[in-house]
Formats: sequence, structure tokens, C-alpha cells
Amino acid sequence: MKFPIDKFETRQTPFYYYDADLLDETLQTIKSQLQPGDHMHFAVKACTNPGVLAHVIRAGFGADCVSGGEIQVCLDAGFPADKIVFAGVGKSDWEILLALRADIFCFNVESIPELEVINQLAQREGRTARVAFRINPNVGAHTHDNITTGRAENKFGIAMEDMVEVIRLSRQLPNVECIGLHFHIGSQLLDMDDFATLSLRINELQEELDCYGIVLPHINVGGGLGIDYIEPDLHPMADFASYFATFRRYLRLRPGQQLHFELGRAIVAQCGSLITRVLYVKQGAVKKFVIVDAGMTELIRPALYDAHHCIQNLTNDEGDEIYDVVGPICESSDVFAKDLPLPHCSRGDLMAIRSAGAYGETMASQYNCRPLSTGVLSTDL
Ligand code: LLP
Repeated sequence: MKFPIDKFETRQTPFYYYDADLLDETLQTIKSQLQPGDHMHFAVKACTNPGVLAHVIRAGFGADCVSGGEIQVCLDAGFPADKIVFAGVGKSDWEILLALRADIFCFNVESIPELEVINQLAQREGRTARVAFRINPNVGAHTHDNITTGRAENKFGIAMEDMVEVIRLSRQLPNVECIGLHFHIGSQLLDMDDFATLSLRINELQEELDCYGIVLPHINVGGGLGIDYIEPDLHPMADFASYFATFRRYLRLRPGQQLHFELGRAIVAQCGSLITRVLYVKQGAVKKFVIVDAGMTELIRPALYDAHHCIQNLTNDEGDEIYDVVGPICESSDVFAKDLPLPHCSRGDLMAIRSAGAYGETMASQYNCRPLSTGVLSTDL
């Protein structure tokens, strides 16, 4: 990826930089692979930068939200309400009311008590809520333990054994309308077998529903497609072709049934980088540290998940040294990389921490009273 370094020089670091061309190329690649009756809801938890959202809206995608705050951000950004879905194990009353009043497309419901509350609140508002049931498919996915969501022991979703009962219950409740099933098995999945297994599980569940004469119009398979954190320039785009092909091959939809996706990371991760500046280079007792002005407050993924992000010195590409790249936060987990070979680093050098467009800016915190950093699109520089 080419970075406009001269334009970076005048900006306060750290900041997030989003390459609008790569974002658009990614959106168009996905769009070209959607078929009639398919819907893409961008998982906005990955990135709510307004500039990025504007491109997603322009591509015609909807939004997958997990909080009232996200719903409000999406409405303000201009997502049509009828393209918004709302998931989450713990929806507060005010969040449900906000979604009802906006008349969003669908609530992805995760428990019977939640269904009953949505029904009550919808009744109070004189509305009918469209709901899909998030079923926990008990599918293990090949990813970090903290980001698998579809195993039986996870807190997410309704047990498969309870699926028919909740659908029946919903039919007795006057202010909810059950329109589909929802699934999500985890994130950063690179093994297409996981999506094949999910598809086969959905087929089994649909066969069970056939026995009761139940056909629901919408199937939502969630998100989870992973990206190449190791070589972002080799694979600036996720493997969308294999991803969609897997569902086309294994998932058996009923006539007229519509297919929904909720990709987050695969849409925005590679177009975003965290741009930071070297503050100090320090020789410790056994290690050489590059101390940069971004920390776990800007990008928590390495500290939280041991996540790998490529780091590039944008100012200098000569020399070869081994560094630990660390932030300024008072936590020993505030480390971006250990024993990393890098060109020689000096105070003032600009660095890019790559593949940070997803779960970067949105997971930032103000720990140590640090100001939130801003995000900018290449076209706005
Ligand atoms: N749908 C649901 C119901 C989800 O829970 C998620 C992500 C997605 C869609 C989007 O998944 P994606 O396509 O982005 O993998 N903070 C972690 C990732 C947490 C993902 C949570 N759920 C990280 O930085 O890796």
C-alpha cells in the first residue's frame, strides 16, 4: 500500500488512515458476488468511522448493530432503517425502543426472555417487531478462543434444541413476527470448512423445521471471514470468492428464501492503518525498544488477543535491527510487537501499523486520560 507520507507529516499522530480506493475496491468485489436475494449488513462494530460508513452506504449495504449507540450512529450516517439488523445478548429497553421506533428490519433475538420483552415493548408502542432467532449451532471455529461464538458453551444464541419451541412461542405473541434464523460462529476464520460445517448445520435445522411445516423467509449466516494479517500487501482483499462459493455449494435454501451476511473485518481491516510516530528509541538491559505515540488505547488487539499486526517504518527503509515496538501506556501488555526486524528507527519516524481498519478505532479507549485519536480517509487528506 502506498502512503501519502508528506500529508502525514503535518498531522497530529496517532491517527487512523483509511485507503478509500482499497475500501471501494473491496466493496465492489463483494457486490459483484452477491446474487439477487442476498443482503450484506456491514458489522459496524468493526468500524464506525463516518467516512468509511459513507462508502459502505454508497455501496448499498445495510448495517449489523449490537447496541442502541450503533443503531443511532447508523441512522445518523444515513443507513436506511430497513437495512439495519440488531443483535446482542443483552439488549436494554431503551435500545429496543429506539430500534422499534426506527422500524429497523429485524431483531436478532438471543433468548426467550428477550423475545418476551420485545413483544411487550412493541405492544406498548403499537408496533410489530420482526425477529430472527439467533441459534447457537454448536460449531467450533478455528480461531482465537476469545472470538469464537458458536460453541454450545458460549453465551450467544438459543440452543438448537429450543429452536422449534421459540418459533412456536413467537407465533403466539401478537407483537412479534418471526422472519428468520440467524447464526454467527466466530471471527477471523480462514478455514472455509467452518462455513461449510455451519451450512450443513443450517440444512439440518431447516429439515427439522420442514417436519413442522415451518419455512422462514430469511437466513442470516453472520460474518467471520478472516484476512491476512501477516502479508497485507500480498492479500489486500479477503478471499471473498471462496467464502461465497462455500455457502452456494453447501447451504440449501428454500425457494424464495433470502440470504443475509454480516461481514465486518473482511470489509474494512486491510484499508485501515494506525499511523504513529516514534517518540524514543531506548536500549534496555536486554532489548531495544521503539516507543511510539500510539498504544493499546488506540489499538488493543495485540494486548487483548496476542494479535499480530505488520508494522512498517514509513520514513526509513535502511538498516536492519531487532526491536520491541511498544506504546506509552502504563501497562506491560502495551506492546505491538516483540523481537521485530525493522529498518533503523529514529525519533520522529512515521510508522504504519497495518490491517487495523477493523476493531481498531472502534475499540479505542481513553485510559490514562488520553484523547481519542481521529480517523481520516485518503480522499480527505
Ligand atoms: N455478526 C455477529 C453477530 C458478530 O458477533 C460479529 C462479530 C460479526 C457479525 C462480524 O464478524 P467479522 O466479520 O468482523 O468477523 N474484536 C475482535 C472481533 C470480535 C468480533 C465479534 N463479533 C477482534 O478484534 O478480532
